[in-house]
Amino acid sequence: MIEYKTPSEIAVMAKASRVVAEVLEILKGAVKPGVTTDELDRLAESEIRSRGAVPAFKGYRNYPKTLCVSVNEQVVHGIPSKRVLKEGDIIGLDLGAIVGGFYGDSAVTVAVGRIEEKTANLVRVTQEALALGIEQAVVGNRLSDISHAVQRHVEAAGYSVVTEFVGHGIGRQLHEEPQVPNYGKPGQGPRLQPGMVLAIEPMVNMGGPAVRVLDDRWTAVTADGSLSAHFEHTIAIQPSGPARVLSRL
Ligand code: MF3
Ligand code: CO
Repeated sequence: MIEYKTPSEIAVMAKASRVVAEVLEILKGAVKPGVTTDELDRLAESEIRSRGAVPAFKGYRNYPKTLCVSVNEQVVHGIPSKRVLKEGDIIGLDLGAIVGGFYGDSAVTVAVGRIEEKTANLVRVTQEALALGIEQAVVGNRLSDISHAVQRHVEAAGYSVVTEFVGHGIGRQLHEEPQVPNYGKPGQGPRLQPGMVLAIEPMVNMGGPAVRVLDDRWTAVTADGSLSAHFEHTIAIQPSGPARVLSRL
């Protein structure tokens, strides 16, 4: 069942999402060669808690950390560690926070120092795919109009969308109905209605779409070792006009 949110509930979700956005902005500034992913995780946790919020991922299905860090061929759900970032890497930073019982969830992929132009293009196309998906998140459309817009843009650029992980409804739980795939025919699924809050999160591989999960049981990597990028926003469907992006500053 889809849990529709009232305007006052969306106001609380906006606070949670704003914490995520602010902390991601700080983390982006901290990403540089020589930094470890554990350092980013500690910074994320202290900045979330100093805002009176609670890390959403820590303890979720026994996930051990505040932040997910996905470097290069890692797609999503990489666990922070002593790994040292190096020039030319890309890193996905995926963060969730809880405020007043409601979740916010957002992710970005950023460059570590200078990166190759073809890598930068993967990151750019993934961010554009998210923006095009959000553009479709309007009353009158159906859920798969979002999915289709993402897939179309990614495949036009010659990349693959990951199908084994999907976006999701979000609210009092991190993952609510409906699932929001990054692929599909347009015009299918539930009609988009005011009060729906969705986490839209394209995961895009430079090579093939297949992924596998490492022995740590969390880190998803591309099966072919190609690079992967991920962006995510928490958005609220409005009574009219464009969706409100709750996780944007
Ligand atoms: N943004 C991711 C998601 O929506 C984060 C989940 S990581 C987990 O699935 F550790 F919390 F599982
Ligand atoms: Co999510």
